[in-house]
Amino acid sequence: MAVKKGHAVLLVVLLQFPFLQAAKILTICFIGGSHYLLMDEISRILHNNGHEVRMFLQYAHSMLPGRPPQQSPYPVSSYSLGEEYIQKYREIFIANQKDFLSGRSDYKNFLNFMTELSYQCNITLHQSEIFSFLKEEKYDLAIIDAFNPCSFLVVEKLGIPFIAFCPGLFINAGRVGIPGPLSYVPEYKSSLTDRMDFFGRLKNTLAFMVSSVIEMKMDALFDQVIDEHFPAGSRPTIADLHLKPELWIYNVDFSIEFSRPLLPNVQWIGGLLTKPAKPVTPELEDFIAESGESGFIVVTLGSMISSLPVEEFLKEMNDGFAKMPQKVIWRYDRSDWPEELNVAHNVRLVDWLSQNDLLGHPKARLLVTHGGLNSLMEAVYHGVPVLGIPLFGDQSENVVRIEAKNMGIFIPPEQMKAEKFANTMRKIIENSRYKMSAMKQSAILRSRPFPPDRQLLGWVEHIIQSGGGGHLRPYSYQLPWYQHWLLDVILFLSICVTVIVYLIVNVIRVLIYLMFSNRKQKQN
Ligand SMILES: *[C@@H]1O[C@H](CO)[C@@H](O)[C@H](O)[C@H]1NC(C)=O
Repeated sequence: MAVKKGHAVLLVVLLQFPFLQAAKILTICFIGGSHYLLMDEISRILHNNGHEVRMFLQYAHSMLPGRPPQQSPYPVSSYSLGEEYIQKYREIFIANQKDFLSGRSDYKNFLNFMTELSYQCNITLHQSEIFSFLKEEKYDLAIIDAFNPCSFLVVEKLGIPFIAFCPGLFINAGRVGIPGPLSYVPEYKSSLTDRMDFFGRLKNTLAFMVSSVIEMKMDALFDQVIDEHFPAGSRPTIADLHLKPELWIYNVDFSIEFSRPLLPNVQWIGGLLTKPAKPVTPELEDFIAESGESGFIVVTLGSMISSLPVEEFLKEMNDGFAKMPQKVIWRYDRSDWPEELNVAHNVRLVDWLSQNDLLGHPKARLLVTHGGLNSLMEAVYHGVPVLGIPLFGDQSENVVRIEAKNMGIFIPPEQMKAEKFANTMRKIIENSRYKMSAMKQSAILRSRPFPPDRQLLGWVEHIIQSGGGGHLRPYSYQLPWYQHWLLDVILFLSICVTVIVYLIVNVIRVLIYLMFSNRKQKQN
């Protein structure tokens, strides 16, 4: 009897907490820098909450240059692209940086970068040992970095249901079928805000057309890889794979992004890396104390960029800082600093810094940044105004939003001059409107109903428990395009209207004819 009662209790417990079972989750990360930081954080959150997590990781050059190595709490399956290729990739990356710093970042750079990702994808898909190991492990779910088209191909090959995590703003909303009315939703790479005049809307419409062409070109770069690794008859397309995730999660918060329509299978969970600040090292604390009430400026140009290969650019920045009363803490690889250039008197170079902790320091006055979304989110979280120097990718779009929300100003890299740089920094620090807006955005971010880690965990477990995201996915994904845009209905209605107008016109004609012929007859 007692045993039976025990069973009943267990059953009740199990029914109430069906979530207690750990799931097997594979996270997939093929790009370093901010992409790795996010996928690592996602893996940690799931691991810390009792799930069995493994990361499929590709080592390339400069995952996080300057960062002290860390022990991963969850297991990792990794492989290297090979020394020879890594060297070549590094050279391409530096050549690209030179372009970005001179303001020459364009679609060509992006497509060249995607060509490298497609080359790497071929190597990834050839890792047959890892693939057979991962297949045998039978994962319940994968979480992929949706920026890299290769991660879609890898989950497709493994045959695992997956959640797509997009590290940028809604950069690919169109391909995910998210409605984006061009009248107030700025297209990726348009540098527009949600308030557009006639020419803004015209530009937005043209940007939409251009980005559709770029997407097609990007997908085509992976055609050969798909041909080589999938048998004819079951070859996926990158476009179709964008409609396949059980759920989309975007690294977005509306303290930065403009409001817009979304879908139930699209969740926004921004700021996974924002945390309450921990104390900074005593050495930095002493340095900061020297600045008195002026405070200090934090400078980072992205987790992957630890030095500046264009000397004039570096010199203008350094000269700009020299004019400021603040202290400056600058993440810069000291071994790459040119000998003939003196580091400004108020600048401290460090190989790596905890940006989140420094921004949380009460004397932080300004973040000088490339405008990566994670950096901006940390600035918003701690209410620190921003000076953006957007270099590539989504950075120009991100800093447009920072300016629109009044929490900073951006300078395009080709306009970088010491005088202008110093004046802009002064303006942001001294005009209280920037600090006030930053504090307002901070309140928006911090008062979200649920913290981002809880949200992430809740959604992942919901997808596993509910047997996938089918109930969230709109039926529009199955509709052919002419039905989706109601072109068949519009065509039908146009024909009806044409026929009716045609009939009315002819009836009137006949009536007029009859009337006139009547009159004529009477006159006669
Ligand atoms: C992929 O790599 C294999 C082996 O290195 C090579 O033979 C093949 O040509 C590559 N395919 C593509 C599409 O690059």
